[in-house]
Order: sequence, then structure tokens, then C-alpha cells
Amino acid sequence: MHSPADILSSACGPIGVFDSGYGGLTILKGIRQLMPEYDYIYLGDNARTPYGTRSFEIVYEFTLQAVKKLFDLGCQLVILGCNTASAKALRSIQQINLPQLDPTRRVLGVIRPTVECIGSLTKTKHVGILGTVGTIKSESYPIEIHKLWPDVQVTGYACPMWVPLVEYNEFTGEGADYFIKKDIDGLLSQDPDIDTIILGCTHYPLLWEKIRKYTPSHIHLISQGDYVAKSLKDYLERHPEMDTRCTKKGSCRFLTTESVEKFEESAVIFLGQEKVAVQHISLE
Ligand code: DGL
Repeated sequence: MHSPADILSSACGPIGVFDSGYGGLTILKGIRQLMPEYDYIYLGDNARTPYGTRSFEIVYEFTLQAVKKLFDLGCQLVILGCNTASAKALRSIQQINLPQLDPTRRVLGVIRPTVECIGSLTKTKHVGILGTVGTIKSESYPIEIHKLWPDVQVTGYACPMWVPLVEYNEFTGEGADYFIKKDIDGLLSQDPDIDTIILGCTHYPLLWEKIRKYTPSHIHLISQGDYVAKSLKDYLERHPEMDTRCTKKGSCRFLTTESVEKFEESAVIFLGQEKVAVQHISLE
């Protein structure tokens, strides 16, 4: 006789990657480069982006809807490719919802894997975090960094205009230069000894060229994709029971809550691919 848990735990499916919009594509790209053999479903809640200025309750509600949708589509493992959702919803989903939904599935975030690299990168032990209002106010980065590196001084700075610049295709314009320079200067004026800056929002690597242009060259900029990818690979090596439940045919589907045409247009640029297959879905 199989128990319900045994039956559930033998289910297989793609790895789900979720973000409020396009940002999680920077995480997906890193993961697929390292682990191209796995199947993936990317879900962007572009219709309701940005999450960064929304309340805890709303970010939790929207993120839970996305996780449930990815579970319905067969994902056994979901990565919240979004710092705001990782900061505001991950713990509640892991502790409150997963035990009821399916205790054998997993939902992982992007903050912890990013924080793990910090101690070996900063020489001055002064680290800056650029993120959404939600991520910075949650204090998740200083809390997680201090668990591993208590002597590192952490300064957070919210950049509420950066996500809309990406979502509304303004990432190459002069408006982007204005806001990026202003916010980097704002962060460094709070702590001039910073030698390492974490781009603590998965949208920000899409603004990389301008961020690099306005950041002094001695400062190390950290984009999360590669760190999250390495951490996921390590997780799957340590958890063969989950690895066997992740299907491996090298496929990738894209889902958006907004216009399919707009998603296709932007995803092709952000992923550097010729074509992406996108479907519309509703989360409400
Ligand atoms: N890309 C997301 C993050 O990493 C969220 C951006 C937003 O929706 O405000 O925080």
C-alpha cells in the first residue's frame, strides 16, 4: 500500500521560476546556463508588477497564487526569482502553506544564496544593497548577512524607479541614467567605504551597463543569477530525492499574466534568444 505522501513524492515536473515580471529571467538565465538539461516553467506576473511597493499581505497573496499555479502545472520545486517575494512571502509559504499543499515539494528563494558569497568578496567589510522598497524595508539582507558575517556593515538603499524602467522598456533611455546615477550616489553617500554592492532585485542586472557606468570601478557589483544557479545545483546534489522529481528534457515554457506579445518582445532581448514560446495565464 502506498501512503498519499509516497504517491505525491513520486510525481515529477519542471522547475518553476517565478517573478513579478521580467526580473526572474536573470535568474532563469543563470540556472539554465549551468543546468540546461532540466525542464523549466517561467511565470511572470507582469500584469501586477511592481511588487516592491506593495504591502506584505499583497506580496504574500500574489506569490502564493503563483506558487499554487506552478504546483498545478506539475512543478515539484519552485524558485522565487524575486527578492521582494523572497523577503516577504517565502518564510510564510514554507512554514504555513507547504505543509498543507504538499510537504514533499519545495519553494526556495534568492536572498540566502546571494548572501553566502559576501564574506569572501568584501575587503572593507562594508556592503551596499540596492533593492525594492519592500526588500530594503524588510531588513532581510542585513539579517541574513549578519547570521553569516556579523562584522560586515550593511547599508540598504531603495530604488523604486528601477523596476518600472525595465518593465516599461525605458532601460536604455536618459531617464534610466538619471535615476541610476542618483540612487548609486545616494547609497555611496551613506557609506563611502562600500566596496561591494549586491543588486538585490532580479530586475537590476537588466540595467547592468548603466549601473556599471555610474558605480566607481573599484566597487564589486554582484548580480544574483550565477550565485543562485550554483546554489540550486548544490541543493539538487544534496537532495537526490528532489533531483529525481525534476524532469530533464531541456525544455522551457514562459507564462505571463500580461500581454503575450509584449513578453515575447522583451524576453527575447533579456535572454538573448531568437524566440520564446509564451502563453497567457490568469492567477486570480
Ligand atoms: N524582481 C523583483 C525583486 O527581485 C521584484 C521587483 C518588483 O516587482 O518590484 O525584488
